[in-house]
This record gives sequence, structure tokens and C-alpha cells, in this order.
Amino acid sequence: MKITVVGAGAVGATCADNIARKELAEELVLLDIKEGFAEGKAIDMMQTAALLGFNTKIKGVTNDYSKTSGSRVAVITSGLPRKPGMTREELISINAGIVKGVAENILKFSPDAIIIVVSNPMDTMTYLALKSLGLPKNKIIGMGGTLDSARFKYYLSVALNCNANDLQGFVIGGHGDTTMIPLTRYATYQSLPVTELLAEDILARVAADTMVGGATLTALLGTSAWYAPGAAVAALVESIVRDEKKLFTCSVSLEGEYQQNDICLGVPVIIGRNGWEKIMDYSLSEDEQLTFNKSADAVRNMNNVLKEMNLV
Ligand code: 2OP
Repeated sequence: MKITVVGAGAVGATCADNIARKELAEELVLLDIKEGFAEGKAIDMMQTAALLGFNTKIKGVTNDYSKTSGSRVAVITSGLPRKPGMTREELISINAGIVKGVAENILKFSPDAIIIVVSNPMDTMTYLALKSLGLPKNKIIGMGGTLDSARFKYYLSVALNCNANDLQGFVIGGHGDTTMIPLTRYATYQSLPVTELLAEDILARVAADTMVGGATLTALLGTSAWYAPGAAVAALVESIVRDEKKLFTCSVSLEGEYQQNDICLGVPVIIGRNGWEKIMDYSLSEDEQLTFNKSADAVRNMNNVLKEMNLV
């Protein structure tokens, strides 16, 4: 099995590193437009194989999509990352053209690939891939909510002084500082609702910290984060290639689910060998549905920019 990761920057390289360590494929192609860059990262990672004990062969290539042919999964991380003070949305004019070109090139050589979109603004880039590739909707997966849900569990684990691994919980809506919705009401620690374990003001702080989780790291690092994004992608790839049918929040095409249409937005889905296989229908309170609708409006405004750019 072959997996491709496009973009050998920090996020793409960390995706590749995690996928190789988990041995999710025999071959992993890392592609970048910068001459020699993916090759260098691939060799560096391959020199960890004897130490870490994995057998995945990582191959770096400069912009040669023929080397990606026959990929089962392709991850798109290309485009500019956020700089401090920048929103994900501000990246649209640069990243949209890049993502469209990358997606089309992947499809040319791997017509059966499942596409995971990481580039920002992620929901809009996922919508762009959906509209421009003409692939079945289940094969287009936006990663954002998987990352946001991991951040939500991190902040909850700090508040509860427990392991993030012992928590259940997810974030729906857009992958934006003001559009994501941590669903605190559904979060649990060892089956106990966190609403019974933490005071309301603490839960509000956890939700607020989650929403700006990416921006907080961008301010600290000077660029956007990579460890958790890379791990989030690898968890999705693992659920696909091992057909685990795990539940993640991903940005997927909505056709009436959660009262939305003609949009890709974060909802809980089952991820398995066919991509996203099922949208899980959690009931939302009136307030949660209103917030979800507002999130959809904001993402839809962003999607309209694609129309102005004649990209969809
Ligand atoms: C983040 O939230 C890169 O959007 C990504 O860190």
C-alpha cells in the first residue's frame, strides 16, 4: 500500500513521520515543490528506521506526481501556514489555487485515493476539493475537527488533572477561532459527564482555550503547530487503512445533516476503509444548533470567495 503526503513542511513531515512509525503503508511518498526538500526530509526520517524499528519506505520527490501513482490515501498539507496574528481565513487567496492544483495532480495518478485536506482555511479547502475533483463525497475528508477535539481533550485533561486519553469529547463546526464548537455537554471522563466534574466557569475557559488553541501556538511558535496536526492526520489514516471505523470529527459534505447543505463542515463521522462512512447524528440543543448554523454561515461566506476566484 502507498500513501502520499503533499507538502514537506513541518505539518506534512510530521504526518509522514507518524504514518511511518505506525507502519500504515509499505511506501510513503512525500512530495514538495521546493527542490530537494522532500528528499532531504525523507532521508532524515529513513535514518530513524533502524532506531525506531519501522519498515515503511519513505521516498521524497520534487513535484513529480507520477511517483505518487496508485496511492490509497493522499494528504494535502500544501500552502502557507498562519503567522502570528493571522486568521486561517486570511490564507484563502494564496492557498486555494495551490490546493486545487495539488488535488487535481493527485487525482490524475491516484483516481481511487481518499483525500485528507489539512491546508487552511480547512473547511473551504475541503469544499474546494469536493467541488473540483468530482470524487464521491465519502472520499474527501477535512482533518480540522480531529485536531480541535484533541486540543479540547488536552485542555479538559489539564482542568481535571487526568490523562487526555481517558476523555471522550469532540468539537464540531468550522475549523476557525470563532467557528468551532466544543460540545462540552457530550464530553465525559470515564463515562462521567465533565459537566458534573467541573464548574461552569472552568468549562467555559476550556472551551475558549480550545477555540483559540491553534492561535495560541502560532503566537508561541511564530508559525502554526505541527505535532498535533500530524498526529491527527495519522489517526485518520490509521482508521482508513486498518478499517477501524473509529469516530472522529471531520469536515465532510453535508446534504441536510445537521440542517446544512452544500457545505463541508465538522461533524462526528465514522472513518473506515471507504473514507468517511457515516455521519453520526447527535442531537443538538436549540442553542447548539444556532451556533452551528452561524458557523456554517461564516464558512459559506468563505466558500463564496472561491466562486469569486472562479475556482468552483
Ligand atoms: C492548527 O490549528 C494548523 O490549522 C492548524 O494548528
